[in-house]
Amino acid sequence: MPPLEKNFIITIDGPSGAGKSTVSKKIAARLNLIYIDTGAMYRCVAWAAREAGLEMSCTSEMITLLQGIEIRFQTAAGNLVFCNGKEVTDLIRSPEIDRLSSAVSGLPCVRAALLPLQRAAARNQPAIIDGRDAGTVIFPQADLKIYLDADLDTRARRRLAEQQLQAGVDLESVTAAIANRDRADSSRSQAPLRRADDAVLIDSTSQDIESVCQHIIELYEKLKK
Ligand code: DC
Repeated sequence: MPPLEKNFIITIDGPSGAGKSTVSKKIAARLNLIYIDTGAMYRCVAWAAREAGLEMSCTSEMITLLQGIEIRFQTAAGNLVFCNGKEVTDLIRSPEIDRLSSAVSGLPCVRAALLPLQRAAARNQPAIIDGRDAGTVIFPQADLKIYLDADLDTRARRRLAEQQLQAGVDLESVTAAIANRDRADSSRSQAPLRRADDAVLIDSTSQDIESVCQHIIELYEKLKK
């Protein structure tokens, strides 16, 4: 695989459970890109706000929290996430943080605070950005944009498999939670989830992760010719 030039950006957008993060991590490893998980950044804000006992709205306390927030990814050692110096990789994956992160992601103050951090994370480095608005808002000039989708039932089953060790989680509640988040992510006024006009649609409902990755690598290779 030829090395990517600096600043080569691949964006992967799509709804919850479509396989964005698994695919992004694999492509990052194969193409030697840094992986930026923008959803984890919203999860960190939700986690930090809850730790501080804040309500999920643009209060002055929330603005102060956003001004001081420090989010760090450690890609080499298992994709760890740190927020304000604490390792939160697993803490930010609970159903409660699923819900709270969806709420904070609709707040203009939160989106405005995270946008420069997301852009800065990829500065001068080839990167793959996983999100909802990566190809529409964060990097509208990305070199390759993917919109990864799958039907609701498939996405709910995948999320259930990830969360099955947690109490009180079943297929019905996960399906309802994902359908709610789809609605909230797509209908909000701030950077709603939508496919960029120039994004390639890949439906992973009946494709395994490996064939999705292969498809994206083929698109990358065509681009490099
Ligand atoms: O991808 P995820 O489930 O970890 O994302 C958590 C929440 O953040 C989800 O409700 C969508 C939102 N989000 C967003 O609004 N914009 C992004 N670029 C990434 C995630």
